[in-house]
Amino acid sequence: MDRFMLWVLFTSLLIIPQVINSEEEVVKRSLINFLAQLTCNNNTDPNLNWNMSTDPCFWTGVTCDVRAMSVKKVVLDGFSFTGSFDAGSLCKAQNLNVLSFTDNKFIGDLSAEIGNCKQLTHLLLSGNQFSGILPDSVSGLNNLKRLEIFNNNFSGKLPNLARISGLVSFLAENNQITGEIPSFDFSNLEYFNVSNNNFTGPVPDLKQFGFSCISGNPGLCGGPMPNACAPAPSPSTFPSVLFN
Ligand SMILES: *[C@@H]1O[C@H](CO)[C@@H](O)[C@H](O)[C@H]1NC(C)=O
Ligand SMILES: *[C@@H]1O[C@H](CO)[C@@H](O)[C@H](O)[C@H]1NC(C)=O
Ligand SMILES: *[C@@H]1O[C@H](CO)[C@@H](O)[C@H](O)[C@H]1NC(C)=O
Ligand SMILES: *[C@@H]1O[C@H](CO)[C@@H](O)[C@H](O)[C@H]1NC(C)=O
Ligand SMILES: *[C@@H]1O[C@H](CO)[C@@H](O)[C@H](O)[C@H]1NC(C)=O
Repeated sequence: MDRFMLWVLFTSLLIIPQVINSEEEVVKRSLINFLAQLTCNNNTDPNLNWNMSTDPCFWTGVTCDVRAMSVKKVVLDGFSFTGSFDAGSLCKAQNLNVLSFTDNKFIGDLSAEIGNCKQLTHLLLSGNQFSGILPDSVSGLNNLKRLEIFNNNFSGKLPNLARISGLVSFLAENNQITGEIPSFDFSNLEYFNVSNNNFTGPVPDLKQFGFSCISGNPGLCGGPMPNACAPAPSPSTFPSVLFN
């Protein structure tokens, strides 16, 4: 038995460094795979030096945490990339803090796998052509500080973003988002805009934010809106016998 345990220990010591190395290879390969699905409309080299034989820390747009030897940021703003955003591949880099892909031409959904980027503090996707719903998994990104999706075509209801207690910036203006505005604690937010969407329901207590942050949502009611909210059905209107 002891010999067996020693053997296990010995072989695992041999194997572990290879596992670490192959994990890095997997991350590199999936980042390259993310990029390979995109086309760049301008004349720059669409590979951005992202290649298996080089260290990702030297790839265009990539920043590493040198001590932890992991990819921390991918910032590719204004590159005219078009194609779908393969969050599954991107989030194989589990230590990503910052994803910034503003002012490109991404199309289609943001897939639920964005939730695998658990360390994200910045998710900046404004100025693209994303459509569909913002997946529920975004509300599980507990470390998120800035979530900026303005100037896209997101629609449907938002997940419960009020769960993200450290959120500082939520900018979602100029989409087609429906449903109620999440019940944020507005005293924690520094930047907020949901103007020009299709939100409905009562205007929340916006504190420091002015009307321009909610304008262009004709379905909102109460507060500064022209239409008052329909009174909530008071408990006494329900036949009390049902609750006894
Ligand atoms: C990868 O980078 C190396 C070193 O810069 C270069 O020689 C090689 O051609 C590149 N491979 C591809 C497929 O771009
Ligand atoms: C392509 O986009 C990059 C990133 O914004 C920019 O630096 C470069 O000048 C652009 N090239 C052309 C030909 O527009
Ligand atoms: C975004 O939505 C608007 C309004 O529905 C539509 O006119 C436009 O074509 C959409 N753009 C894309 C890229 O889907
Ligand atoms: C959003 O609101 C606009 C203007 O009120 C309306 O034309 C459009 O049909 C709505 N879109 C959705 C998806 O509800
Ligand atoms: C919110 O967004 C709308 C639409 O882009 C803009 O007109 C308005 O000035 C913004 N408000 C603030 C406070 O930035």
